[in-house]
Amino acid sequence: MVDSAAHQPDSSPDNSALDPLANVQNQDLAEVLAEVENVSPSPALELPLLAAGGLIKNFGGIRAVDHASIEVAPGSITGLIGPNGAGKTTLFNLLSSFIRPDQGRVLFDGEPIQHLQPYQIAQRGMVRTFQVARVLSRLSVLENMLLAAQQQTGEKFWSAWFLPKQIAKEEKELRERAMAILQSVGLAHMAHEYAGALSGGQRKLLEMARALMTRPKLILLDEPAAGVNPTLINQICDHIVNWNKEGMTFLIIEHNMDVIMSLCDRVWVLAEGRNLAVGTPGEIQTNPQVLEAYLGQ
Ligand SMILES: Nc1ncnc2c1ncn2[C@@H]1O[C@H](COP(=O)(O)OP(=O)(O)OP(=O)(O)O)[C@@H](O)[C@H]1O
Ligand SMILES: [Mg+2]
Repeated sequence: MVDSAAHQPDSSPDNSALDPLANVQNQDLAEVLAEVENVSPSPALELPLLAAGGLIKNFGGIRAVDHASIEVAPGSITGLIGPNGAGKTTLFNLLSSFIRPDQGRVLFDGEPIQHLQPYQIAQRGMVRTFQVARVLSRLSVLENMLLAAQQQTGEKFWSAWFLPKQIAKEEKELRERAMAILQSVGLAHMAHEYAGALSGGQRKLLEMARALMTRPKLILLDEPAAGVNPTLINQICDHIVNWNKEGMTFLIIEHNMDVIMSLCDRVWVLAEGRNLAVGTPGEIQTNPQVLEAYLGQ
C-alpha cells in the first residue's frame, strides 16, 4: 500500500511554508511523490515536471525494471546512470509510453500519462531520443527536421486553402529554425544530404536536433554522447546548457561521466532495475554503493 500521508493537503500554514509539496491536492501526484520519497532522501523543493513511482516491467522471466521511481524538477538537467543492463532504456520506454508498465504510474505536469500514446505525450511537451538513433534515411536531413514540426498549420488542408500567406510565412520560419538548430549541432552543412548518409554519431545529433523542433518542455536523451567525437561532445554540452537556460528541462542517460558530472543538477542511479542512489553529481561520484555496482558489472 502506498502511504500518501506525506503529501496530503494540510491546513497548517507553518507546515506548508517548510514543505512546498505539503499542499498537493492531486491524489495521483501525492501517491507517486510518496513513492519517490521512499528512494530519495532529500525531498524536492518544488513540484516535479515528471514523476514516476513503483514502476515494474518484466520481459518473460527478466525483471528489467523493479519498483523504480524517479522525478525530474522543472528547469533541471537530471541524469540517469547505471551499469549496462540496469534498465535505464526500459525506464525511458516506460516514461515515454513506448512500452506499458506491469505496475506503477507516470505523471507529466501533474497528470497521469501512462495510458497515452507516445505522440500524445509529445504533443503535451515531452519528447525522447533513442539509444540507436531513428532517422528517416531516405529523406534529407532538413526534411527530417521539418517533419518533426508536423503539428503546424501547414499540415491542415483547409488552412492551406484559405491562409496560403500564413502557411508560407510559417514554413519559412520553420526552415530558419531548423537550419539554426542544425547549425548548433554542427550538421548545417549536411542539410541537403540523405539522413542515411550520416554517421552513427551524426544520426544521434539529428535526432536530438529534431526533438528540439517542437520546443518541448522536457527532452529525454538516451546516451547523446555515444559515438560522437569529443570536440562535438563539448559543443553539445554547451548547447544543452543554453537550451536549458531557455527553459527546456532534460533527463539524460549517459555512460560518459564527464558529461553527467558537468551537466547535471541531480543524478539517479539504477542497478538491476532498482533505485540504487540519488544525489548531486559529487555525492554520486563518492557513493561506495555506486562504485561497487559499476565495478561489479
Ligand atoms: N524487449 C526486451 N525483451 C527482453 N528483454 C529486454 C528487452 N528490453 C530490455 N531487456 C532486458 O532488460 C534489461 C535492461 O535492459 P535496458 O536496455 O533497459 O538496460 P540499459 O540500462 O539501458 O543498458 P545499456 O546501458 O547497455 O543501454 C536487460 O537485461 C535487457 O536484456
Ligand atoms: Mg540503454
